Amino acid sequence: QPARPADLVEEESGAPGEEQRRWEEARLGAAALRFGARDAGSQEPQYQLVLEEEETIEFVRATQLQGDEEPAAPAASAQAQQKECIQAVRRSLPVFPFREELLAAVAQHQVLIIEGETGSGKTTQIPQYLFEEGYTKKGMKIACTQPRRVAAMSVAARVAREMGVKLGNEVGYSIRFEDCTSERTVLRYMTDGMLLREFLSEPDLASYSVVMVDEAHERTLHTDVLFGLIKDVARFRPELKVLVASATLDTARFSTFFDDAPVFRIPGRRFPVDIFYTKAPEADYLEACVVSVLQIHVTQPPGDILVFLTGQEEIEAACEMLQDRCRRLGSKIRELLVLPIYANLPSDMQARIFQPTPPGARKVVVATNIAETSLTIEGIIYVLDPGFCKQKSYNPRTGMESLTVTPCSKASANQRAGRAGRVAAGKCFRLYTAWAYQHELEETTVPEIQRTSLGNVVLLLKSLGIHDLMHFDFLDPPPYETLLLALEQLYALGALNHLGELTTSGRKMAELPVDPMLSKMILASEKYSCSEEILTVAAMLSVNNSIFYRPKDKVVHADNARVNFFLPGGDHLVLLNVYTQAITAGYFYHTARLTRSGYRTVKQQQTVFIHPNSSLFEQQPRWLLYHELVLTTKEFMRQVLEIESSWLLEVAPHYYKAKELEDSHAKKMPKKLGKTREELG
Ligand code: CDP
Ligand code: MG
Repeated sequence: QPARPADLVEEESGAPGEEQRRWEEARLGAAALRFGARDAGSQEPQYQLVLEEEETIEFVRATQLQGDEEPAAPAASAQAQQKECIQAVRRSLPVFPFREELLAAVAQHQVLIIEGETGSGKTTQIPQYLFEEGYTKKGMKIACTQPRRVAAMSVAARVAREMGVKLGNEVGYSIRFEDCTSERTVLRYMTDGMLLREFLSEPDLASYSVVMVDEAHERTLHTDVLFGLIKDVARFRPELKVLVASATLDTARFSTFFDDAPVFRIPGRRFPVDIFYTKAPEADYLEACVVSVLQIHVTQPPGDILVFLTGQEEIEAACEMLQDRCRRLGSKIRELLVLPIYANLPSDMQARIFQPTPPGARKVVVATNIAETSLTIEGIIYVLDPGFCKQKSYNPRTGMESLTVTPCSKASANQRAGRAGRVAAGKCFRLYTAWAYQHELEETTVPEIQRTSLGNVVLLLKSLGIHDLMHFDFLDPPPYETLLLALEQLYALGALNHLGELTTSGRKMAELPVDPMLSKMILASEKYSCSEEILTVAAMLSVNNSIFYRPKDKVVHADNARVNFFLPGGDHLVLLNVYTQAITAGYFYHTARLTRSGYRTVKQQQTVFIHPNSSLFEQQPRWLLYHELVLTTKEFMRQVLEIESSWLLEVAPHYYKAKELEDSHAKKMPKKLGKTREELG
């Protein structure tokens, strides 16, 4: 097949095209549909309007055709057929015609930058080619990193299936807290964070013949740090092959960074994508999303829909709304399969998005930006893009990390649109105006290293013997203040000494794949003989989201259930009834006291609030320790625990001075009372 032009067709907002007119009409129709659904009896005529729209189509005929084509294969040969089918799919991928050329380039150059449209087969095929070529002889391994856990898992599963092996044997994956590899595993898909940790046990990556840093354009913190480390290793291991694979973004920069390494371009096979904008900004993009999906469903020819939302909660809400409306419309519309995909989704649910859509139905996948480049779902023709993503940012002055919904970048928006043009000409509906695209979106996303806390990474680099962090070879250096704060924090935790050198306890902390404060807490639990309890708390804190599930339709129920778990003392105790001091040993850095104007952090004097979900929300104890500080609607402390100020002196005499911990309220107390307390103490 000839490669099609890669250009996206842009259509001005309000252009008087036939498509645009249909779209506007359909929009009205779906709005009617929405209201009609709410009050079916009186709104019958409006339904008819929509159904008429639907009727215009060869919809029915097309889907029936699909149905007829499905062969009723006998079960016995199904497997063989499937095998042949998988190989045929492999040969059909854009990278396949370049297999030999690519292998020759890898043989010739130590570092190769590989650029190719998403879905061209970089992730699943290239490691297989290298395997077939013998790069895993003599027990050597091939690593392929992914910024996301889900991607590592699903890609490894796919490759294992293609190679006809059991996942965990020749092909496996390794992500934090889950290792699906064995002695036999030669193709290792892993998160970038896991490869980073490999450096601790094997600083020269001696057992690897090839390291492929995939999805490099995502520029996650771990990927960025890997760049520096791998560049260094490559210098003294000339036989190590380094591949940096990326969607069609940023490749020139990667090449420059790796001493002008050659760029291997896999020509894309991308079909044109028509882009539609809204005429006016949408006030409620979630609602607008739901309406638009139904609109596409009833007005557009077959083809699956991909919707980009920002996170689990939003995705769940949208899916519920969609399912709800489909249920109410019943047989008035065709079947719509609503499938969510986000990082924390159980893997069997994730697998569902890859299953082919049954004939006659349409699939809508509601995804985080995981579907932007890391995952390819076959059959997507329509993309719905509200234009937002959830982004972390970090203020090194206050130590405040915030996760906020922000407009995505132009680069992101174009990647998203591109997902519609993989199998045929597609359409991308943007829920924002053409003006907003031009004037309000940033060109590219700021790399994570410049907007996150660095405690973990600094500890790791120190453990690898890299002392001069200011001069580390970063593709884009992190802000100076962020580095400084990380060093200060590690010093406070006793991981570094006053010269900034790694201490024994710092080395131990680095071994644990968790945040420095959490690892300090775990290590200190030994002293207080409560390791078992602390490990449980640590495990619960490490779950990305709250362990309390709060479905929209059962909010009261869920809240009651949560309250039933409450124990005096605080949230960590609610997670488990544990002995409180050990926790203080790790988190003494995160403390707040109640002043007359509310809570303030002890060191930075930042005004903060207890999260309303907390068990201590009503009690407002005087001294608190918090797991994390997040800025959502307010500066909230999440997972708080009541402590006594004297504990801080006990576990961190080097960090707190008695004067800082003097209780302002105690001062106001009558002298006599104060004395009695002391005497008692
Ligand atoms: O890495 P790149 O985006 O270039 O492509 P890929 O992830 O290797 O995907 C190549 C093909 O494998 C696509 O057609 C995907 O749909 C398919 N694939 C799949 O079916 N299941 C997965 N878990 C991953 C990929
Ligand atoms: Mg890929």
